[in-house]
Amino acid sequence: MSKFIDDIAQHNPPCPHCGEALPREEKTCPNCGVDLLLLTLLTERAYLDGVPGSAPISSTPEALIPRIGDYLLDHDLVKEDELNMALARQKELAEKNDHRLLGQTLIEMGYIDHETFDLAINLQIIELHSALREANRNLEQRVEQRTGELNNALERLGETNQIKANLISNVSHELRTPLAHIKGYVELLREGDLGELTLEQEEALEVMARSSARLERLIEDLIEFSTAAREGISLNQQPFSLADLAEEVRKRTSKNAEKSGVEFKLEIEDNLPILEADAERLEWVLYQLVDNGIKFTGDGGEVTLGANKDGNIVNVYVRDTGVGIPADRIEEVFLPFHQLDGSPTRKYGGTGLGLALVKLILNSHGSEIRIESTVNEGSLISFSLPIPSESA
Ligand SMILES: Nc1ncnc2c1ncn2[C@@H]1O[C@H](COP(=O)(O)OP(=O)(O)OP(=O)(O)O)[C@@H](O)[C@H]1O
Ligand SMILES: [Mg+2]
Repeated sequence: MSKFIDDIAQHNPPCPHCGEALPREEKTCPNCGVDLLLLTLLTERAYLDGVPGSAPISSTPEALIPRIGDYLLDHDLVKEDELNMALARQKELAEKNDHRLLGQTLIEMGYIDHETFDLAINLQIIELHSALREANRNLEQRVEQRTGELNNALERLGETNQIKANLISNVSHELRTPLAHIKGYVELLREGDLGELTLEQEEALEVMARSSARLERLIEDLIEFSTAAREGISLNQQPFSLADLAEEVRKRTSKNAEKSGVEFKLEIEDNLPILEADAERLEWVLYQLVDNGIKFTGDGGEVTLGANKDGNIVNVYVRDTGVGIPADRIEEVFLPFHQLDGSPTRKYGGTGLGLALVKLILNSHGSEIRIESTVNEGSLISFSLPIPSESA
């Protein structure tokens, strides 16, 4: 008997399934009852099935052991010239279409006996299993470690977002007070309460008044956004007429549309039912959508605000004939402080907050915003509101 067989005799390898020490002759584990050969076959099959291009494997244990010849040599179970002769014989038979495994050939040529060969195969299967278990354990450890790292990163990101939200909220509130002073004094000056004004001074004050109004809107948006992101939106739901709301939006945007050379149209179906929502916020939503429509359409284009009844919902839409949004960038437009053209030379003004807030407001009404768009042809942005049962 070789040293290898002696080694096996000393050594009780662990069962790959339950980990208990295995008596060396066993083909099933006396502890958990698993069929060791079957377990090996199934594991290897499952593995090989996932490897592209791998050939189907036979159910012979020897076929599972890579480089069995080297293994037998390394453990002094066959001699090198015996192995070479068996390999030559195997080749010779294969040429006559008689395919045999190396173990079978070695046994037939009398270089190894059946029992020793089976033991060698068994032990190597167990070694392979142990290696597989060890690799799995390492993998699990690495997955655990990576998950921990990702969780930490997520936590840090959460903290950073919180700091950002606090910063926006604090700065916005702090900007309000000095802005109120500026606006107050501009009004006093314009009304002549602080003395007579020249025409140029009046014009300068008008510019100041417009700019402070813009700044005030921006600060209100920032406060609204940071509050909504932190605490969610608390809605003040009430019955309202969509036609009236649309008319308000038309009034607020008509000057801007005219200045931009855009034709603004209303397409509100007659006799729409009374809806229920936070009307003030919904007006803000429509204003943002129309404002975008005008901004991203420009001279010679058209923007339409429309609504129609469809079963128990009302569809509301803003359609423009403007620059459009590439299909793969639609999700981006909802990111706060994000504009599709974020370059320093960008053509369009704004902070990139409008649609982020529009989405939050619509979602808090249980509604989803939809965008259909074709670059250089225009966009259709829409959402639906339910008709309350008493209005239907
Ligand atoms: N109707 C539209 N046509 C083409 N692109 C649009 C349209 N609406 C929005 N976008 C794109 O989505 C981006 C985000 O829109 P959003 O309204 O959030 O920000 P903004 O209009 O740039 O700034 P703000 O609304 O804060 O003044 C815009 O910068 C633009 O790139
Ligand atoms: Mg906008």
